[in-house]
Amino acid sequence: MDEFSAKRIKDGIEYERARNGPPNGFPALPPIPSARYVDTSFNDLERERLWKKSWLYAAHMDEIPEAGSYLLWKRLGSPILIIRGKDDRPRAFYNTCRHRGGPLVKDEKGRKTLFTCGYHGWSYDHQGNLVGVRDPRDFPDFDKTCLGLIPVACDTFGKWIFININLKAEPLREYLGPVAEQMAEFQPDRLRLAHKAEYAVKSNVKVLLDAFLETYHLKSIHLQTVDRFLDHLGTTIELWPNGHSRMTTPNRRPEWKDPGIAGLPELDSVGEIARENNVSYNIYPNIVCPPAPTGLPFIVFWPKTMNTMTLECVWFSPDWGPGPLPGVWNTRIANFERIIYEDTQFAPQIQESVESDGFKGIVLSYQERRIYHWHEELDRRIGIDDVPPEARVVPMLSPFIERPRFGRAAE
Ligand code: FES
Ligand SMILES: [Fe+2]
Repeated sequence: MDEFSAKRIKDGIEYERARNGPPNGFPALPPIPSARYVDTSFNDLERERLWKKSWLYAAHMDEIPEAGSYLLWKRLGSPILIIRGKDDRPRAFYNTCRHRGGPLVKDEKGRKTLFTCGYHGWSYDHQGNLVGVRDPRDFPDFDKTCLGLIPVACDTFGKWIFININLKAEPLREYLGPVAEQMAEFQPDRLRLAHKAEYAVKSNVKVLLDAFLETYHLKSIHLQTVDRFLDHLGTTIELWPNGHSRMTTPNRRPEWKDPGIAGLPELDSVGEIARENNVSYNIYPNIVCPPAPTGLPFIVFWPKTMNTMTLECVWFSPDWGPGPLPGVWNTRIANFERIIYEDTQFAPQIQESVESDGFKGIVLSYQERRIYHWHEELDRRIGIDDVPPEARVVPMLSPFIERPRFGRAAE
């Protein structure tokens, strides 16, 4: 991490610990309207303008290890095929044959030289070009070049594969801005996929996402776990452009090392801030990532219906050498799952409340302002004039979006 950013965080922690109230000039945040969680027209707008137009984490390159390796990705419903080409680049297409919509693949993952439709045998190469049509005599004057698979934008940040349904989206790096700069110390081009799990949660996706953007809840639901080693009163927050943000929470004892991860390989490029504190990124919209020198999870939030969601937890590790993942990871993941359980335990009840007449919106404090930032960005994506008035979030935080001295935000 650059010196400027490290100093910003250290000063921020000191400031947060010493303050007796919100900073001078920080506005009272209006409630987040309840309609955002239950209104079907808002939900439709969110789906069309946020989820279908955002860069979203899809997979890790280890999941498509060779040329022709593929996986089928359906987090947003539509079947999307991600293929590793001979040039080692991933590409994404709808798994939808241009003849009559037959599937090119049915398995969740595998490897193929050619992608041949199961219905009438049209075949496509790794770049999605239509290269074979059965009975060509019956398709006179046929221009195969116009009938390649329909692409989806696909790009990588390190070995992380992101996709975007919107082909006109800005380049991934530009979108990530400071996130990519700041996370470079975790060497995303060298991390290996260590573990994947997913959990079904009965709540709107935003109910749970909100919970991962603040540390105000540590003293209630993490009393026996996270709260024992983190001091939430020192949490310092940076709001960045495009809805991204980071919070850094100091360890109560910076020298304390988790014995549960002793002996695991460490990234020597990770600086003091992430070694001595708990750093947590929100890569907008749906990744929460608390990285450590010994590895990091992507906690990824996926909407399913308006009142159900899937929580995907994917772990990445520095290279552990030959052989299987070191056994100590079992304990690490079990400890992490306990925290995930704590974080998700109230989601179904909150959802019941959200759907009741007793829910009048969300009241947020200064230390919960990342949630407000997240929602403001959602309205920017939808187009603020298109958000139904009863669901709108009043723009408040633009003056507090930081323009760090790196990447795109440096202008
Ligand atoms: S639907 Fe694919 S070849 Fe007919
Ligand atoms: Fe939590």
